[in-house]
Amino acid sequence: MTFTQQDARPELESAPGSEWWRTAVIYQIYPRSFADASGDGLGDLPGVTAHLDDLHELGVDAIWLSPFQRSPQKDAGYDVADYRDVDPIFGTLADFDAMLAGAHERGIRVIVDLVPNHSSDQHVWFQEALKAAPGSPERARYIFRDGKGENGELPPNNWESVFGGGMWKRVTEADGTPGQWYLHIFDESQPDFDWTNPEVRAEFRDILRFWLDRGVDGFRVDVAHGLIKAEGLPDFTPDPEGGSMGGDSAGVPYWGQPGVHEVWRDWHEVLAEYDGDRALCAEAWLPTVAQTALWVRPDEMHQAFNFHYLETTWDAEALRAVITESLDAYGAVGAPSTWVLSNHDVVRHASRLALTAENPQGAGIGPKSPGQPDPVTGLRRARAATSLMLALPGSSYLYQGEELGLPEVIDLPDDARQDPTWFRTNGERYGRDGCRVPIPWSADAPAYGFNDTGAAWLPQPAEWAEFARDVQRDDPASTLSLYRSLLAERRAHGLGAGTLEWLEGFGDDVVAFRNGPITVIANLGDTAVALPAGDVVVASGPLDGASLPTDTTVWIAAA
Ligand code: GLC
Repeated sequence: MTFTQQDARPELESAPGSEWWRTAVIYQIYPRSFADASGDGLGDLPGVTAHLDDLHELGVDAIWLSPFQRSPQKDAGYDVADYRDVDPIFGTLADFDAMLAGAHERGIRVIVDLVPNHSSDQHVWFQEALKAAPGSPERARYIFRDGKGENGELPPNNWESVFGGGMWKRVTEADGTPGQWYLHIFDESQPDFDWTNPEVRAEFRDILRFWLDRGVDGFRVDVAHGLIKAEGLPDFTPDPEGGSMGGDSAGVPYWGQPGVHEVWRDWHEVLAEYDGDRALCAEAWLPTVAQTALWVRPDEMHQAFNFHYLETTWDAEALRAVITESLDAYGAVGAPSTWVLSNHDVVRHASRLALTAENPQGAGIGPKSPGQPDPVTGLRRARAATSLMLALPGSSYLYQGEELGLPEVIDLPDDARQDPTWFRTNGERYGRDGCRVPIPWSADAPAYGFNDTGAAWLPQPAEWAEFARDVQRDDPASTLSLYRSLLAERRAHGLGAGTLEWLEGFGDDVVAFRNGPITVIANLGDTAVALPAGDVVVASGPLDGASLPTDTTVWIAAA
């Protein structure tokens, strides 16, 4: 490591050796929508570097960057063509190094996205596989199979892509005849690797080392539940209610297979060769918290996203249950629980938490979706939900723009949408563009200060001027000020490393607990709740004298 945390930011508890990831607040940067230094309408790494002071001022411990590696951008960079280079739209490796150094100087750790389940179809290995013959070592790096039917004209099994349509695509062989099929859990431009092949494993160990050598603090591992497929690739029809990634269904032959654990043990050892507490965080959509906890056993990954928490509706009993279950299950394997409310794949929580019960909360809403959220309720609940989350022991993830209270952009014009889900379902599913709109920095600047040309790869709504960071910065009632206070108080009171103790007596619709010196009360009911004695440290919204209004969370320190 090229920095010492103590020098850079003495007040942080995340010095090397202290397992910083157990308590860190990690801010997700979606580079194409964060800040655009080049002015072409797509965010870039110099844009990130230019705003590191804003992140430092916000008070986050680390950033996670969604993919910026070379990619044809068929799935916004989750289709990687070269794992060891920066895509020119995001800058250069030198820009990456400068961003990393700038973050470390400010005591901010950096984790990068790694996409091991599949590559882009433009990856050199896949191009070689297309040219090579069936049964060749080149094809063996991916999952090629002969088709069914008299002439192999039917796909090898009935699996359906997460983005819609079939999970197999037939190739044309070098001699021009219709040939084998390859598997793609996502878009057909994202062929799945064959993780039973030692060559694939060796390649990814090397890719890990490439970024670790540059000084990254860890990896967010994309689709970590997908690498190994069940022996024989048996037919499977998922439960239509199975969640946005289908991972909530039990027995899916391409999710959560036990063989993945061997991969994580191997990677754990690679990271352990390096100093400075490098960490792995799994993106794993699995049916239960208990199953997810198996991924963070002491010799596997360090963290896993707690999507069960993210998917919990605005309901006090459900929240108490998932928090207890998470702390128990992760605690049982010695891992911290993580907490997350928003990311680049789900409806922003300032909208999601106000969706009515008729609508699943999944991956995208548009103008014709049922259960349209009321924005005022949504923002009030989002502020209350984040205030609850940041008081929980463990590590929390934030998604860029949530500190501004940004809602989902529901009414994007059809011709602006870019998510492959939108195209693969012929517009039946809106997909995830609504949470990916470039974020506003300055109310009066072109593209709200995303760049200085006014270009933006997805159109920004006119009402976003009021969410701009510059209008929120000095307003004590703004969502940005709330996040800053929450993060500062969380650090001051060591809440990430604390212990949760449930408090009774506030009623069924209230989530109440103590973490160290702080009492947290979140009112999810329809009626106000009397506040206990003590000093109000932070409140997610206006208080009504000594009572806590609906959809409001308060932190109180004993008087
Ligand atoms: C993960 C990413 C998502 C991407 C998918 C395929 O779920 O978060 O954005 O589309 O993997 O790589």
